[in-house]
Amino acid sequence: MTTDEIIDLLTEAYIDELETVMNYRTNAIVLDGIHAEEVKESLEADIQEELDHARILGERLKQLDESPPGSEAFEANQHSLQPPEDTTDVQSVIDGVLEAEEAAIETYRSLVEAADDANDPVTEDVAVTILADEEAHRTEFRGFQKEFPMD
Ligand SMILES: [Fe+2]
Ligand SMILES: [Fe+2]
Repeated sequence: MTTDEIIDLLTEAYIDELETVMNYRTNAIVLDGIHAEEVKESLEADIQEELDHARILGERLKQLDESPPGSEAFEANQHSLQPPEDTTDVQSVIDGVLEAEEAAIETYRSLVEAADDANDPVTEDVAVTILADEEAHRTEFRGFQKEFPMD
């Protein structure tokens, strides 16, 4: 059975995915320098996945007789993912991505739990599937963090 908690988490996750798309999109454009190329390519790939997550979440909301939100519900949270003043500061983007992925992982873990408690296996499956993608993104950017030590 659907609960308010499930609807709230699906809605929050939907908005977060779209904020992630915006910031990954921007950072994949603005970064400069020899260290930036791999990170930009990785962001390009992740943009498509995050956009797909938003679609899956929105469709689940629709199935639960709810609507995904429009832009008026939007409130920005990803302060650490704003394009860096120094466009060669790849490290700041890596840190921001890791923070965003950690936040997403936390949200999907909460959704898995809420869906399990409410005996809603379809929402649980959605949350587990997306959670696996976010953990893969985190692993990828942890790798970048090792490769580009802070200087
Ligand atoms: Fe995502
Ligand atoms: Fe992600």
